[in-house]
Amino acid sequence: MTKKTGLIAALDTPDLKKTEELLKQLSGVVDFYKVGSGLFTAAGPAAVELALKYGKKVFLDLKFHDIPNTVASAVKSAASLGVYSVSLHLSGGAEMLKACTALEKKPKLWGITVLTSLDEHELFRSGFRCGVLKTARGLAAMGAENGADGVVCSPLEAADIKKTHGDKITVITPGVRLESAGDDQKRTLTPKEAAAAGADFIVVGRPIINAENPAAAAAAFLEALKQ
Ligand code: C5P
Repeated sequence: MTKKTGLIAALDTPDLKKTEELLKQLSGVVDFYKVGSGLFTAAGPAAVELALKYGKKVFLDLKFHDIPNTVASAVKSAASLGVYSVSLHLSGGAEMLKACTALEKKPKLWGITVLTSLDEHELFRSGFRCGVLKTARGLAAMGAENGADGVVCSPLEAADIKKTHGDKITVITPGVRLESAGDDQKRTLTPKEAAAAGADFIVVGRPIINAENPAAAAAAFLEALKQ
């Protein structure tokens, strides 16, 4: 039986009122939400509470990147909010990850490899000189060795990472589009391609939240994942 790829809707909205409207519209279609740095900075833990009121699971995507003690402390606080998963930059290193895996109570640790908004040129300019695939592959391997539960990567690297790590690592892919959107996401694929590459979850924000009918847009992504 082929594995199902799930949908996580990114609540990239500016305030709680707008978020609640969106959650009401998506109710019954989506049950896994992502709270990112924009909404969390504006509304704090109340954003997580609200998402949990309407959905079953929350991915707190604050992309922690700091010294081990600081990140472990943030992950501990996230655990007390009841989130299912948190993100941290794998480029923060093995010690940072180990400090988090050592926590008694922790959400799933999902490590960011290479942001889907970066292309080869941008990554090179940031000082990572061995290309997107090798960088993502290396960071994913470090994550797997040090207790990450999942890795966040572009659908373009998902198949490679799945082939190496199989079901030991959950693969989460943002940068998924039904059709080219011409926005800041550079390394994108369609939901069907992301599912075929072995993604366990796709994360979709603007194509759902900015749609005239967000529930219909989310349903279209779910339908495309089944094909
Ligand atoms: O609107 P869009 O579908 O591009 O939203 C993608 C979401 O996934 C955003 O909230 C973004 O912060 C997040 N994300 C990403 N790339 C990563 C990790 C998370 O785009 N590597």
